[in-house]
Amino acid sequence: MEFIEIRRPDDFHLHVRQGEPMAYWVRASARDFARALIMPNTIPPADSPERVEAYRAAILAAVREDPETAGFTPLMAFKIMPGMGAERVAGLKAAGCLAGKYYPAGATTNSSDGLSSPAAAREALLAMEELGLPLSIHAELPEYFVLDREKAFLPTIERLSRDYPKLRIVIEHLSCAESLEFLRSMPERVCATVTVHHLLYTMDETMGEGLNPHFFCKPCLKTPRDRQALQDAVLSGNPRIFFGSDSAPHALSKKEGPFSLGGPYAPGGVFSAPAALPLLAAFFEEGGMLSRLENFTSAFGAAFYGLPRNSGRLRLVKRDSRVPEEIAGALPMLAGRQLPFDVERKEGA
Ligand code: NCD
Ligand code: ZN
Repeated sequence: MEFIEIRRPDDFHLHVRQGEPMAYWVRASARDFARALIMPNTIPPADSPERVEAYRAAILAAVREDPETAGFTPLMAFKIMPGMGAERVAGLKAAGCLAGKYYPAGATTNSSDGLSSPAAAREALLAMEELGLPLSIHAELPEYFVLDREKAFLPTIERLSRDYPKLRIVIEHLSCAESLEFLRSMPERVCATVTVHHLLYTMDETMGEGLNPHFFCKPCLKTPRDRQALQDAVLSGNPRIFFGSDSAPHALSKKEGPFSLGGPYAPGGVFSAPAALPLLAAFFEEGGMLSRLENFTSAFGAAFYGLPRNSGRLRLVKRDSRVPEEIAGALPMLAGRQLPFDVERKEGA
């Protein structure tokens, strides 16, 4: 096998941030991915039609500066705020939002203004159910022990699914075996995204040798057993599990300090997008399931969100490629390392 050709992929969970580095960070994704669902945990949050539209316009302006990325489509998610009303949700849908994002207060980057419980957003959730807007969830309860936070959130999803029986739900960056078991017990309208780092790595990357903040993320990387369960689920070709990178660049200075007593400490987030596709190709190939890569990256997610599949194509060629050392002040995952596949876009794609 010299290469595999797939439909151009989607990334259904991406952080590109704001300000000057945003243009470089979004282009690092837009070279490979045709579309990405842009997360709303900006400052201020993307929680109004005006803010979402301005954010999308800034992203589009950035990708259009480079012919290689000009065709990229940002899909927008809004942040569900406490007390958000039905009219606001309708306005966000009219502005083209594809999903509303639930951040438990304090669970991750820029989430101190998040939700203390689903009750804090009852009206918005009802409106989303009514309008057919999927609910994207950061499923962690920050009060719990760090390895148990996702598991601890599962009863909340069960309640959400019961209280909003038409609501479509995505468990983002699913990271543990218990969540997979839970997913199987839920109706089909509950799906999940999986990242490349949770699929391939464990806590050993974060702290097995030395402390590596570039592999630190929320939810944190877990155990070999959890990773095995994720790998089995992804290779099985379950249409309810699709790719969302959760690629989340942070400036090197924030990731590596210096830190002062009492924090802030290194923020969570793995800048995985530049290495994602070559790593996924290698993973599916090693698992003897290369033919299932395309569904994971380019079909199942689009089907969940009711989007047409992308028309362009892309080749993953079996030859070494190198992850950039640094992109606009952030270190990509595996910075400077060799990968066994290289991404090649087809002419006209
Ligand atoms: C993300 C970020 O930095 O915005 N961080 C992370 O550790 N994954 C937010 C998130 O998805 O939790
Ligand atoms: Zn994220």
